[in-house]
Amino acid sequence: MWHSVSTQGWATSMLALATCFSWLPTSIATIPVPVAPKLSFLYTAFVECDPNLMDTSVGPHGIRKSIPIVGGNFSGPHLSGKILDVGADWGLVDPQTNVFSADTRYNFRTDDGADIFLQTAGPKAPDGHLHLRIIFETGSPKYYWLNNVVAIGILTSNLPTNRNISLLRIDAWNFASDWNSTQFMNATSA
Ligand SMILES: *[C@@H]1O[C@H](CO)[C@@H](O)[C@H](O)[C@H]1NC(C)=O
Ligand SMILES: *[C@@H]1O[C@H](CO)[C@@H](O)[C@H](O)[C@H]1NC(C)=O
Ligand SMILES: *[C@@H]1O[C@H](CO)[C@@H](O)[C@H](O)[C@H]1NC(C)=O
Ligand SMILES: *[C@@H]1O[C@H](CO)[C@@H](O)[C@H](O)[C@H]1NC(C)=O
Repeated sequence: MWHSVSTQGWATSMLALATCFSWLPTSIATIPVPVAPKLSFLYTAFVECDPNLMDTSVGPHGIRKSIPIVGGNFSGPHLSGKILDVGADWGLVDPQTNVFSADTRYNFRTDDGADIFLQTAGPKAPDGHLHLRIIFETGSPKYYWLNNVVAIGILTSNLPTNRNISLLRIDAWNFASDWNSTQFMNATSA
């Protein structure tokens, strides 16, 4: 008797649940696919790198690289300048997939003298390009808006060069609806 009541109770609950959620798939299907955000072109950078300093030992996080970033340049509609010799890519190869992911820190100096610190990270995509998330940091009032953009990049490696360096190209974009100027508290905008 107890068993039969319990089973009936369970069946009733399941029926109630099914009724409750029966609208879900139909409702989701009727929500229009959201419009993809538009991107704004930020810059094209040519990045000069020295050879990897690390061996191929597998460490606790994978196979760590240490690739010095020693120079280069960037240019776009709102910022251009040189890449300083102060950074590196400490990327990792995932030993389970052999997929390399970049993990960089380096510095831009704009033609008008502002310093911008960059952190980029992201994996090699199936087409051989790296897909990067790019984070900017600067105290420059003119470029302060870069602190608040959401940016991505596509990296192409092994560009031809007659110098003894490895030359990469990074094309970068950010959300078109991001900030493009800064309103400072108690001050004029930049
Ligand atoms: C940027 O670097 C690339 C690759 O080295 C070079 O071809 C180009 O002339 C440089 N641009 C500027 C403005 O220096
Ligand atoms: C190129 O650079 C690498 C590493 O810095 C060095 O070992 C090599 O001798 C250089 N090659 C030439 C031709 O200068
Ligand atoms: C800056 O952003 C504003 C507001 O989103 C937009 O109206 C304006 O066209 C943008 N300016 C540039 C140069 O992108
Ligand atoms: C702006 O001015 C107000 C009033 O004087 C002050 O309380 C506030 O700390 C100032 N903010 C900044 C960022 O300087």
